[in-house]
Amino acid sequence: MKILVVGGGGREHAIVMKLAESPKVDELYCAPGNGGIAKYAKCYPVKATDVKGMVALAKELAVDLVFVAPDDPLVMGMVDAMQAEGFMTFGPKKDAAILEGSKVFSKELMKKYHIPTAAYEVFRDPKEAEKYLRQQNVYPTVIKADGLALGKGVIIAQNENEALAAISSIMEDKIFGESGSQIVIEEFLTGPEVSVLSFTDGKTIKPMVSSMDHKRALDGDQGLNTGGMGTVAPNPYYTEEVAEQCMETIFLPTIRAMEAEGRTFQGCLYFGLMLTPNGPKVIEYNCRFGDPETQVVLPLLETDLVDIILAIWNGTLETLPIQWKNGCAACVVMASGGYPKKYVTGLPITGLDANGQIADCFVYHAGTKLEDGEMLTSGGRVLGVTATADTLQKALDTAYKGVKKINFQDVHYRKDIGQRALQAKL
Ligand code: AMP
Ligand code: GLY
Repeated sequence: MKILVVGGGGREHAIVMKLAESPKVDELYCAPGNGGIAKYAKCYPVKATDVKGMVALAKELAVDLVFVAPDDPLVMGMVDAMQAEGFMTFGPKKDAAILEGSKVFSKELMKKYHIPTAAYEVFRDPKEAEKYLRQQNVYPTVIKADGLALGKGVIIAQNENEALAAISSIMEDKIFGESGSQIVIEEFLTGPEVSVLSFTDGKTIKPMVSSMDHKRALDGDQGLNTGGMGTVAPNPYYTEEVAEQCMETIFLPTIRAMEAEGRTFQGCLYFGLMLTPNGPKVIEYNCRFGDPETQVVLPLLETDLVDIILAIWNGTLETLPIQWKNGCAACVVMASGGYPKKYVTGLPITGLDANGQIADCFVYHAGTKLEDGEMLTSGGRVLGVTATADTLQKALDTAYKGVKKINFQDVHYRKDIGQRALQAKL
């Protein structure tokens, strides 16, 4: 098979590497890809959001499958556009990707189908939202822009001033553009967070190994929210009992609800969960693989990813057993100094070999580019240094040993990835 992977981050690097293991794969292409992916797949400079350009590329390459990995093209309908041209695809169509594309949609779906989530109200008018806040007067409170906002559309307001400022910047100053024309104000939940990615063909759902993200920029979960500074898998809080509860109260009800709404979800459905004192609740749905969750989940996958993709395409996921390796994985993200705010790019990265790798770890490239044979930084999150081992401690030790071999100017990474998982009190 000839496969085109759409996207260009660490997640796409992990997907490309897993696909490369399949005996069914002859050629791998990626667009736009990055400096690390380019060592394993031929990369083309087409933006992930350029639907027309991507369809043209898929035709030119005469690929057998298009794997759409990032949220924006899924929400824009790239899968629909590819299918209209006769391509086999991986990823939900636009009418199902709305599960991530609109928080208002996902909250209303959960309410209608009794799927546990934080209590909420939707507002289209900032004055109404302000009135509601004053009436409620409970803090912290959570304010979310309706649409995609580069992972920054969630504000946890500690007091009325912060809440009013959030409403004004989202709804009046439109800091997230049209994504902020509606907002959700919801109850602040507490408890350990778990990411569960799942494969689904719309009828059957098969959860992958659970994982834990580290969203804040600084150690001790301080600083700004980022796309994710590191991950571990499995997540120790996600016990078998919790998994069963999630399957019954969240996973199956969600895919059945989507089916009932005529929005059958096919692809990877990501559940962002909080294990609250009142049971697991949905914090968010994503219509795609997580980044950097994928970097710790896919290395543990034993079954051929192409077989899973074909089973989803054919609606036969129920009959395909999916095997996972025993053991643990850890990924430490090396970011540009200043990320998630301003940072410089184009800095040379030292310590990597000719393939952009180091011994004992696998280095997933997130924001790198190859220029005249030199690997340079090109984004906020630059590398995800990943290791697997029979214990989490060993995986972390190896990943951090790897991190120490690599350098670029002003590099920033968290020193405490996995600590919460190691100290989990169940
Ligand atoms: P998101 O951008 O949707 O991934 O949200 C970012 C982070 O905000 C989540 O990982 C949670 O830590 C936090 N968050 C979102 N919604 C809530 C909530 N209702 N209660 C507490 N924390 C929340
Ligand atoms: N790591 C969180 C996400 O992919 O949305």
